[in-house]
Amino acid sequence: MSQKTAPSRYTLTAALPYTNGPIHIGHLAGVYVPADICARYLRLKGHDVAFVCGSDEHGVAIPMKAKKEGVTPKEVIDKYHGIIKKSFSDFGISFDNYSRTSAEIHHKTASDFFKKLYEQGDFIEEVTEQLYDEEAQQFLADRFVVGTCPKCGYEEAYGDQCENCGSSLNATDLINPKSTLSGAVPTLKTTKHWFLPLDRYESFLKEWILVGHKNDWKPNVYGQCKSWIDDGLKPRAVTRDLDWGIPVPVKDAEGKVLYVWFDAPIGYISSTKEWAEREGKDWEPYWKDENTKLLHFIGKDNIVFHCIIFPSMLKAHGDFVLPENVPANEFLNLEGNKLSTSKNWAVWLHEYLVEFPDMQDVLRYALTANAPETKDNDFTWKDFQARNNNELVAIFGNFINRVVVLTQKYYDGVVPKPSALSEVDLQTLHQLKQFPEVLSNSLDRYRFREASQELMNLARLGNKYLADAEPWKLIKTDEERVKTIMFVALQIATGLAVLSEPFLPFTSNKLKNILRHAELVSASQWNTMAHQEVLLPSGHKINKSELLFRKIEDKEIEAQLEKLEATKKANEQMDKETTPQKDTITFDDFSKLDMRVGTIVEAEKMPKANKLLVLKVDTGLDTRTIVSGIAESFKPEDIIGKKVTVLVNLAPRKLRGVESEGMILMTENEEGRLVFVNPDEDGVHNGESIN
Ligand code: 2FM
Ligand code: ZN
Repeated sequence: MSQKTAPSRYTLTAALPYTNGPIHIGHLAGVYVPADICARYLRLKGHDVAFVCGSDEHGVAIPMKAKKEGVTPKEVIDKYHGIIKKSFSDFGISFDNYSRTSAEIHHKTASDFFKKLYEQGDFIEEVTEQLYDEEAQQFLADRFVVGTCPKCGYEEAYGDQCENCGSSLNATDLINPKSTLSGAVPTLKTTKHWFLPLDRYESFLKEWILVGHKNDWKPNVYGQCKSWIDDGLKPRAVTRDLDWGIPVPVKDAEGKVLYVWFDAPIGYISSTKEWAEREGKDWEPYWKDENTKLLHFIGKDNIVFHCIIFPSMLKAHGDFVLPENVPANEFLNLEGNKLSTSKNWAVWLHEYLVEFPDMQDVLRYALTANAPETKDNDFTWKDFQARNNNELVAIFGNFINRVVVLTQKYYDGVVPKPSALSEVDLQTLHQLKQFPEVLSNSLDRYRFREASQELMNLARLGNKYLADAEPWKLIKTDEERVKTIMFVALQIATGLAVLSEPFLPFTSNKLKNILRHAELVSASQWNTMAHQEVLLPSGHKINKSELLFRKIEDKEIEAQLEKLEATKKANEQMDKETTPQKDTITFDDFSKLDMRVGTIVEAEKMPKANKLLVLKVDTGLDTRTIVSGIAESFKPEDIIGKKVTVLVNLAPRKLRGVESEGMILMTENEEGRLVFVNPDEDGVHNGESIN
């Protein structure tokens, strides 16, 4: 960020979340909390900021989820767009605009972008062989294929990316690919697509990133870009054979849509347009003026898309600025395990907001103080509790409470007039004035974690000042000195109100209300604080104390840990129950099975065998003997007359000397008891085939 004081124009983007699930703490810590701190900070510094985001609604996971849940993709995106948008707003993420990629303005913007590149001849048109699922009768894009990563050997890599090593892949590069739709081994089938020839941008990217941003981009970001570029860039398909997404806007492209990673980053531009239209502004300078500083806030899995692919698209287009920085974060884990939407291993934002009402700042603080800025980090509920109880309550809250309560008690809320300032007073006030710069030094380098600790150091300064000066004792002997002490303490409280805004916006607001900050003639701001003689003048009356933070009890943390324990158990159970799918069989294989509806007409225990029943079953063809291992689940007398499904052409075999001529299909219920696969419907007759 700029060290200069002159106001600049900033466009801040935060990764568009996929609308296939709600927001969790991993998203918040990696992207949205740092982006919001940055946006608020830049606004406080007087810059012109457009902070945009929106829902990413064209990911392949969306139709997959819709299919699984038996609803339409539109229902999926509407549901999660609603949940996500509301939770961001309730959490205080100060987007200037939150859009969605299903919006008309986005479809048009993305289509026009593609058309311009197409008309300029920036794409390569190629007929290639793509993975195809013969059973599902469709091409397998990206996430519909899993297999072994050719770079690191990870066995669960997706067709477009390996989540283990971060490599971006082409589906055809995967070793042992498997369709996630049917489990089938995909075949290759020809199809036409448009490719962005990234190799053409290699020298531009080398110059721009490897030379130009060696020193100001984070090492994790720079390192990933370098390894990408050093590996050699290849053309990348920007269209897909899918029926969910933005139709490819050229002829001979029926059944094809824009690759989601082509359209999603353009969503930043459409969201800015939507905002500008609403606010009566011109969107273009925010993307086209060379002095605009474009910052992308993302997680590390998005680095290649924001540092290599999108900039190449912007470069090809020709009208747009390139990102000044992409301060990507590493990942956050939860209680030692990787966060996972599908495994429900997460702290969901919308649930947190219900379970910890009015405690948005606590989560913001805990996530910032422990942000995964340089390496993956772990969120634990114990740490969350400790950050709250030992820092926000015991340091910040305690200091403010003492200052406000004593000011009310001694002076009826009126800021006292100081007398001569001691050496300690002067030193303390001098230190206070350093804080805007100290914080800026960290924030300008995207060190949000360090900045949050510096903010807490300001509260520590206040606490120590009061603890050393002990005005509550001195009041009995030296009233004049106490006035000076309280005056100094109130200046620190005002500094905290101003400087905490990016980190703890709700608290800052409450504190400003207590101090009646807005009513001051020259209310101090981030930029003015360092040069202002007095932040809260004598004679100004403040309001009564209000609780800024409350203690979090052990039982609240235990409840959260129990919730996670229940999730862990449910996942273990699921892993146990879901036996992997067997090898694929052909339809011919299947049609060899002759399954019929039958009725049990006799049943008795097999002598000296605990598990076996000898049954006589009317199969519609005949009445035959079947020996079945169900004696532990059923009493013979209970199953006479029961309709069952019988595999009638299984080769007969002898069990304990009795020839068994078929097999009754069984499954297990949720308690682990055997139950019949039961065609117990009216009008179903013995001998019916099961197809
Ligand atoms: O990884 C993700 O969650 C993507 N939906 C991020 C998209 S960022 C952008 F380019 F839109
Ligand atoms: Zn890998």
